[in-house]
Amino acid sequence: VGFGSVGRRFVELLDGPYGRALRANGVEPSVTGIATARHGCRIAAAGLPLRRCLDVVCRQGSLGEVGAGTAVASAAELIKKVPADVLLELTPLNPRSGEPAVAHVRAALRRGLHVVTANKGPVAFAQRPLMRLSRRRGVLFLFEGAVMDGTPVFNLVGRCLKAARVLGFRGVLNSTTTRILSRVEQGATPASALREAQAAGVTEADPSYDLEGFDAAVKGCALANALMGADVRPESARRTGIGAFTPAQVRAAARTGRRIRLVVRGSRGRHGVSVVVAPESLPADDLLASAGSDGVLVLETDLMGEIGIWEGRGGVDQTAYALLSDLLEIVGSRCPGQ
Ligand SMILES: NC(=O)c1ccc[n+]([C@@H]2O[C@H](COP(=O)([O-])OP(=O)(O)OC[C@H]3O[C@@H](n4cnc5c(N)ncnc54)[C@H](OP(=O)(O)O)[C@@H]3O)[C@@H](O)[C@H]2O)c1
Repeated sequence: VGFGSVGRRFVELLDGPYGRALRANGVEPSVTGIATARHGCRIAAAGLPLRRCLDVVCRQGSLGEVGAGTAVASAAELIKKVPADVLLELTPLNPRSGEPAVAHVRAALRRGLHVVTANKGPVAFAQRPLMRLSRRRGVLFLFEGAVMDGTPVFNLVGRCLKAARVLGFRGVLNSTTTRILSRVEQGATPASALREAQAAGVTEADPSYDLEGFDAAVKGCALANALMGADVRPESARRTGIGAFTPAQVRAAARTGRRIRLVVRGSRGRHGVSVVVAPESLPADDLLASAGSDGVLVLETDLMGEIGIWEGRGGVDQTAYALLSDLLEIVGSRCPGQ
């Protein structure tokens, strides 16, 4: 459900390395349904012709033109009827409610489908009830691509830190603000730095969502819920945008060897877990201030101390990889011991 940049890249790679990886793990992948907002929704039990689907959607046509399968009216109907083992939920994030992704995930889990998503919404707004539902139905709800693209965060903790407790985290997770602040340090104006980030395709459609820390808050809540057992929502996160520092202050900090970065912190206090987003002045040698990265996260744990996770440039390829990684996790869960 959702056949945009990530869904289409995943399908392209399914024809090559991803298909090979799944077959090597004993699974023959087949895409039996695709739902979009403007190109229709289609089911084909024998598998949709993926190259034709890509061609049609890239030239803004309708999936009805692919000449296979049958049309369904909506994503909700597709989730109800499609013969499948796994739903990939890849619709855009609604930062205010997480919908319609939350409803898509819930409906698929209720039907007994595994769910893989790169959408932060379901994890930030409804991780606890969705996990409970997935356990009741005996299926997996996985979301590695929701934070830091395909860089392992959730699966790393789930697989390798089973005995350790995540006590808190700090991260620089919004690439738009990192890119803008780095360019302002070098003398660019915030407006021209924003235009450069937009040209690179890393910004949200509404840039205030990046600049005012909402994207970072949604990611912080997803991390707090999934890694710390919290049940927090983005609207409860304390948020300060990068506008709290003037360009002159950003440059003055750089001259004294410091970097201003938008930091998201998750911590446990007397009243439960809280998520705070604010620009901070960091020493240049702090991992969070390191150059050339679209995301850095430091986890504080009880048994393993601090663990740093650093992502270089992230994007559609890395996010598509997260889907493959989650699918392989599902395959492994069906064949214990793999
Ligand atoms: N792009 C990245 O690098 C990246 C990185 C990490 C996470 N993510 C997350 O991954 C998800 C997908 O991102 P994307 O870049 O692929 O988004 P996108 O290019 O905007 O594509 C979104 C797709 O969802 C479809 N859609 C929208 N509303 C729908 C609805 N109600 N029912 C069915 N389909 C619907 C759209 O249909 P139409 O084609 O008809 O418009 C489109 O095919 C998002 O949640 C995003 O935050 C993306």
